[in-house]
Amino acid sequence: MAANISIDYITHTFRGQAAPTLKEIELNIAPGQKIALIGRSGCGKSTLLHMIAGLLMPSEGCVRIHGHQVAKPSAKWNMMFQKPSLYPWMNVRQNAELGLILAGARDPEKINRLLDLVGLGDKAEASVQSLSGGQQQRVALARSLATSPEVLLLDEPFSALDAFTRASLQDEVTRIAERENLTLVLVTHDIDEAVAMADRVLIMSANPGRIVGEMAVDLPYPRDRSAAAYTRTRHALMTRFESLVGGHETATDAPTESHQERESAKAA
Ligand SMILES: Nc1ncnc2c1ncn2[C@@H]1O[C@H](COP(=O)(O)OP(=O)(O)OP(=O)(O)O)[C@@H](O)[C@H]1O
Ligand SMILES: [Mg+2]
Repeated sequence: MAANISIDYITHTFRGQAAPTLKEIELNIAPGQKIALIGRSGCGKSTLLHMIAGLLMPSEGCVRIHGHQVAKPSAKWNMMFQKPSLYPWMNVRQNAELGLILAGARDPEKINRLLDLVGLGDKAEASVQSLSGGQQQRVALARSLATSPEVLLLDEPFSALDAFTRASLQDEVTRIAERENLTLVLVTHDIDEAVAMADRVLIMSANPGRIVGEMAVDLPYPRDRSAAAYTRTRHALMTRFESLVGGHETATDAPTESHQERESAKAA
């Protein structure tokens, strides 16, 4: 069952800091939606994602999944990081099965299916150290999917990979998200990645981090990166990003779009 995520007016100030990192973030993510959160380095994207994952509690406001306040991590909302964080002394299968083992719910058949799904069916017994970066990220993906999450949270998971591997993993993850009806929240600096994967892109400003605008991406999956509509959308997003966030890092005075403007942007 896909999960609804609501972010109820989050403001967060890290201990010892005078100004808030996140300010008055209010957001509703529909079940099965694929969100990309874009913004400059340091604007608070990872901070917000950690809050959705239950790894960090906001100083004001809360995150709700299925209407319940998120207070701790859960295998139902899984986070995938930039580095795959695999255990080098375990093979591919053991790494992929780790979440299930920790939950006391081993399921070798399911692991076989997932390794096939991510294209590693023939590598199950291989050492993870013998894998390429893209293959390691696939093991992490299989591990994230093994516990049947309802929400997949991705923090720039493909940024270390070459362009070809990145594109194929972007397609693979969106295909799996569609098939399994997952709610996806992807953090990225990469406008291309946002257009390749998301059906809704949120634009964040920095100092304080706020959601200042959004754009719907209404293109069929898998996305054809050479299609004219794709190029147009990418260009529109870039223009919109620059107009909202600008060329400077401090966007304190950036105007926040009204709800109505956000709605009309969605319709456009
Ligand atoms: N534990 C912490 N204590 C104090 N400040 C923090 C902490 N974690 C993050 N920050 C600050 O909060 C701001 C937002 O950090 P965050 O990691 O969320 O940014 P980001 O948008 O993910 O950036 P990047 O794109 O570079 O990953 C930064 O200024 C960072 O220095
Ligand atoms: Mg980050």
